[in-house]
Amino acid sequence: MKALRFAAAALAACALGAAAQTPAGEAARGKPLYMKNMCYTCHGTGGQGTRYGGRLAPSPLPWEAFAQQTRHPRAAMPRYPVEFVSDADLADIVAYLASIKPGPKASEISLLKE
Ligand code: HEC
Repeated sequence: MKALRFAAAALAACALGAAAQTPAGEAARGKPLYMKNMCYTCHGTGGQGTRYGGRLAPSPLPWEAFAQQTRHPRAAMPRYPVEFVSDADLADIVAYLASIKPGPKASEISLLKE
């Protein structure tokens, strides 16, 4: 019985460990999901942020913080429960945001030097 309890605890620990890992996402799938779920209305089509929601790209928050905010928003953002946007879909959205290249620095834009 004791051994069984230990095995159950070890299994639970493994499951927790697995849940904490960043799921691999696909940027190509993430973009349409980001649009379909209306993230862009507040965070901008390129994740650049708007007056309604902050910048999400090019360096989105680490998976745990990103998922925490989406599932349990801190303040004004609507909640996206797992039944609505699955973890796999959310991972694709994060991959899309991570794939966005940062824009050039102002000092690298020649038109601004004229
Ligand atoms: C109606 C506007 C709105 C929509 C739609 C929206 N957000 Fe947000 N989001 C916000 C606001 C406002 C915040 C600031 C924190 C808060 O209010 O909870 C935020 C914060 C965040 C943050 C934390 C950013 C940081 O650096 O702290 C993440 C990540 C995020 N949103 C992801 C998403 C994703 C992914 C979607 C779509 C599935 C989405 N948001 C849809 C308004 C929105």
